Amino acid sequence: MHQNDFIPQAFNNNIEKGIVTWQSPSNIALVKYWGKKENQIPANPSISFTLETSVTTTSLEYFKEEQAGLTVQFELYFEDKKKEDFKPKIENFFKRIESYCPYLKNYKFVIRTKNSFPHSSGIASSASGMSALALCIMSIEKELNPEMTEEYFNKKASFLARLGSGSACRSIEGGLVAWGEHVNIEGSSDLFGVKYKGEVHKVFKNYQDTILLVDKGSKQVSSSVGHNLMHGHPFAEKRFEQAHSNLDDLRQVLKSGDLKTFIQIVESEALTLHAMMMSSRPYFILMKPNTLEIINHIWKYREQTGIPVCFTLDAGANVHVLYPEENEDKVFEFIKNELLAYCENEQYLCDRVGIGAVQLN
Ligand code: PMV
Repeated sequence: MHQNDFIPQAFNNNIEKGIVTWQSPSNIALVKYWGKKENQIPANPSISFTLETSVTTTSLEYFKEEQAGLTVQFELYFEDKKKEDFKPKIENFFKRIESYCPYLKNYKFVIRTKNSFPHSSGIASSASGMSALALCIMSIEKELNPEMTEEYFNKKASFLARLGSGSACRSIEGGLVAWGEHVNIEGSSDLFGVKYKGEVHKVFKNYQDTILLVDKGSKQVSSSVGHNLMHGHPFAEKRFEQAHSNLDDLRQVLKSGDLKTFIQIVESEALTLHAMMMSSRPYFILMKPNTLEIINHIWKYREQTGIPVCFTLDAGANVHVLYPEENEDKVFEFIKNELLAYCENEQYLCDRVGIGAVQLN
């Protein structure tokens, strides 16, 4: 598909007002996206587990205006309070998508949004937040064009979410979602995320992700700044090649259920992401001493028990502890007894692979 395929024809339907609500999850990448080209095109392909409990719920109320505006008009409420400081990000998003959703300028909007996780938890809400908003917009487009297929709906929702925040495009559908062209991933595209259609072993079906909140402070480096540091990065080309080959290896692992190799790929991807940040100019260390304490405890526990628990990281200090559902009780005991002491106020979130975004009205 080409991006122009997302520019709609004139619609026959006319709608005056309404409200749509979506709940959309966060996701955790196994092979990481780090580095982008213009228009949020990823420098390498990535794949993630869609999560279940870390979600954003967004409602979009719309009222037709007599005359189309020059820009999209909206009011924004976060957790029932007006939130002016979130507005520029959304304004920017509306600007980026205006040629794909020209009908938005005919309406005035009230956006109400809330997260299931604490706002200043160091958990990025951009994936769940941008995907929820993109889905609300697509529900309006679907009312204007009821013939739209579900496939087009999901692809365009992912395409729009990507323009808001790259990794948000992997938060529409459930299970495993790939984004970025890869020769061996069917239907893969730089423009939107696609549900992974390869064979997946049952051990990955209900994979657990306990998120340990090591540092709830705001990020030292925004992900856009981080992605840009891959331009001219001395290791960039090798890293992008490595992501392609790790995805190939992961495909085999997803099929066979070989958790030893799964762990090697996932942990290496997490550390490589941070190694890229540590070796860029300017350079950053986003891990905290407690991040390393947790990693070392996980390694020791895995060696002693043989239980296939591993970690991954986002662009921050929090640790995602990943393990199969069948090991849930034992791993959770370990987390409680040995890892929570390294979290800020012993805070953590229990999550797992989810089914994707759901419409609530
Ligand atoms: O979607 P962004 O621009 O916030 O980038 C997120 C990138 C990582 O979370 C670090 C990796 C990934 O693939 O999700």
